Amino acid sequence: MNADAGFVQIKDLAAHDGRDVSIHGWLFGKRSGGGVAFLQIRDGSGICQCVVESSAEDAFKKASELPHESSLIVRGIVRKDERAIGGYEIAVSSVEIIHIAAEYPITRKAHGIDFLMSHRHLWLRSRRPTAILRIRHTLIKACRDFFDNRGFTLVDTPILVAGAGEDAQTLFPVEYFDRKAFLAQTGQLYLESACLALGKVYCFGPTFRAEKSKTRRHLTEFWMIEPEVAFAELDDVIALAEDMVCYVVEQVLARHQDDLTFLGRDIEALRKVKKPFIRMTYGEVAENLRSAKTKDWLEKEMMRDKEKLQALIDELGRLEKQVDAVKKTAQKDKIQIQIHELKENIEDLEADLHNRPAHIASAQAFEFGGDLGGSDETIISKQFDKPVFVTDYPREAKAFYMKESVQDKRLVRNMDLLAPEGYGEIIGGSQREENLDVLVTRMKEKGLNPEDYDWYLDVRKYGSVPHGGFGLGIERALTWICGLKHVRETIPFPRTMGRIYP
Ligand code: 4AD
Ligand code: MG
Repeated sequence: MNADAGFVQIKDLAAHDGRDVSIHGWLFGKRSGGGVAFLQIRDGSGICQCVVESSAEDAFKKASELPHESSLIVRGIVRKDERAIGGYEIAVSSVEIIHIAAEYPITRKAHGIDFLMSHRHLWLRSRRPTAILRIRHTLIKACRDFFDNRGFTLVDTPILVAGAGEDAQTLFPVEYFDRKAFLAQTGQLYLESACLALGKVYCFGPTFRAEKSKTRRHLTEFWMIEPEVAFAELDDVIALAEDMVCYVVEQVLARHQDDLTFLGRDIEALRKVKKPFIRMTYGEVAENLRSAKTKDWLEKEMMRDKEKLQALIDELGRLEKQVDAVKKTAQKDKIQIQIHELKENIEDLEADLHNRPAHIASAQAFEFGGDLGGSDETIISKQFDKPVFVTDYPREAKAFYMKESVQDKRLVRNMDLLAPEGYGEIIGGSQREENLDVLVTRMKEKGLNPEDYDWYLDVRKYGSVPHGGFGLGIERALTWICGLKHVRETIPFPRTMGRIYP
């Protein structure tokens, strides 16, 4: 069966105005009244209203009985209708049933996130996941196009590796015949050797971290795009990251106005993502976090958020009264969903406000030496409407391979890019230590055995050059671009500490 033969995709209906067409898909929703059945059919490219008059007897009978998510073929004339979703509808002449679905577990009623995640294989069919996955597709394509257009060569790096590429604490071990191996945390070390072969390279693949973090930002399996450039210093790496982020945001804005609007994303905020981004050193960030000005601003923000919380609670009370008075089930369900969403928002804001004093206190007590905590990143990235590069961290906070600073040997030439609106780190990168002796010393300091990295050290023995690169976490970037609260919705089948099924 040729999937496309004779069938029109819903997204292309406008081009077939007035013509007799067939579409195939699944029954997404339906209502009827006054001798007419309105079917909403989705085919993966869009959703379309199909109107079945009771005069079309056979079609009307089938349409009336068919349960949600049944698969079907519909034939009829395309006509313009402003009120229809997508602007066009089909006046149906025939309905062919392909499969009658069993009672579909995901209904128009409100469902909790655990239920939805346990039914992720079916939940994928809903509008929110499909909108996010379409944007994910564009984001990934845009990242790849960006590097392809700049003369980078794709180099696939291994997923089964012999040792740590980042923090040895977060390795996933696997049995590898008679020895132990691990799942790759990054392709970087391999890319470093490849960039001395090809100049400008990138890899794109899944990476794994056994991080025992149950935060909104952590997955155990995530996808990362990593470029690596020979003869590059930190400023070159920063310029590359800045151009890439601008390009991918532009591409998403150009293609996904509808999806972003459906997700409730503030599109104006995304339009502000233009060069130059903000640049701060770690030292400046530390000063900012500790300052009286930041404290004052955070406390005022907390007051405003408490007022916001009260307004949400009032709204909830109003809706709960309203729902009791409503008779029609469809309308009741709609309000129930609003109530459910409000309750979730209230819970989230309450939890957030509960933690806020501790976050303010820890920012005020921020000491030189540590990495930025999640809440510190949030505090910094909320202060700007553009992404923020934070550079020159203390070397004890970062990985062994980062280039020691010439000005201050306590620091490394690295950068993290924090997405605005409180999202925090989406990119980590650096110039690499190209001096063999310094690199070996760093490895020993971090408890790594240089002998395990013989091959990697070879890169510093044969024509070593200044080089650097970064990694963009696809899911972190997508969480920000889509304006989501949690990273788990940005990947088709998320793996977290608490979930590896379905
Ligand atoms: O900052 P990270 O650990 O940097 C590296 O892995 C470098 N080797 C990259 C390089 O220079 N080539 O990770 C890079 C990015 C983070 O900024 C974040 O976006 C994402 O990967 N990331 C995660 N995303 C989801 N869940 C996790 N547990 C993540 N850990 C890192
Ligand atoms: Mg990082």
